[in-house]
Amino acid sequence: MKEQIKQARQWRQESDAVLITAGAGMGVDSGLPDFRGKEGFWNAYPIAKKLNLGFEDMANPRWFSTNPKLAWAFYGHRLNLYRKTVPHEGFQLLLALVKRKHEEYFIFTSNVDGQFQKAGFDAKKIYEVHGSIHHFQCANNCQDDIWEADTKDIEIDMEKFEALTIPKCKNCGGIARPNILMFGDWHWNARRSEEQNHHFNVWLQSITEAHKKLAIIEIGAGTAVPTVRITGENIAKAYDNAKLIRINPRDYEIDRKLGFSIPYGGLEGLKQNLQ
Ligand SMILES: NC(=O)c1ccc[n+]([C@@H]2O[C@H](COP(=O)([O-])OP(=O)(O)OC[C@H]3O[C@@H](n4cnc5c(N)ncnc54)[C@H](O)[C@@H]3O)[C@@H](O)[C@H]2O)c1
Ligand SMILES: [Zn+2]
Repeated sequence: MKEQIKQARQWRQESDAVLITAGAGMGVDSGLPDFRGKEGFWNAYPIAKKLNLGFEDMANPRWFSTNPKLAWAFYGHRLNLYRKTVPHEGFQLLLALVKRKHEEYFIFTSNVDGQFQKAGFDAKKIYEVHGSIHHFQCANNCQDDIWEADTKDIEIDMEKFEALTIPKCKNCGGIARPNILMFGDWHWNARRSEEQNHHFNVWLQSITEAHKKLAIIEIGAGTAVPTVRITGENIAKAYDNAKLIRINPRDYEIDRKLGFSIPYGGLEGLKQNLQ
């Protein structure tokens, strides 16, 4: 393992460009929950255990029509929480790294929490593949519109797990919802995320065309919804001048042809690689 950590550091030092890929584990050292397994989700939301709802049941758009108070208890609680959260020091280490690399970077994340923007990364260099909780859309996507969540914090009765205030669509006055991709989601407005995807593809193409040495640094990406892991792996497979550095205290296994494993939490793993 020590050898891999050394090799990962060397690859990162020699690289000209950095792709940061992050899952929920990136937020854990800032005090945020991941939703690993049913138990992980229930630890974060004991009330969901009482209701016998797992993450996939909860992250379903139908609640916005059948039970908006419940839907907004869940998403409102997360919105309030992510607003309060201070990104841990690992974000600053990454920020210093991308400055040293002359801003040649991009961020690919399934996190909806907006922590990279908050830490000071350029919003134009972030692809939020599952959307952002800090943006709202109409639950019926009436006008194909997305707007910044400009509401105050959502008041919630945590005993009943019911929101006391429900954000409204600014176009039709119906119920609004976060611009987040949920499970079985037919009304998700993908426009914002697709634009980010476009910028990401343009960047990646410029890196590969110039044959720049690319370090992909993955932090806290889980296996249940493996979008983040697979994206990094596919780039490392397809592009001969890229290696994936996987930081994860549990799901750290990696095909050695693709990169290196750092079996630590996000903050400690980033320190190991960057200090
Ligand atoms: N903060 C957020 O925005 C947030 C939080 C939870 C879930 N989600 C959503 O839920 C889905 C979950 O996917 P996921 O794979 O990101 O999360 P996940 O909860 O399935 O997996 C979390 C991963 O983080 C790792 N981990 C645990 N502690 C860590 C630490 N201290 N440092 C680094 N890694 C640590 C775990 O081993 C695991 O591999 C995604 O679709 C995402 O959009 C978002
Ligand atoms: Zn509307």
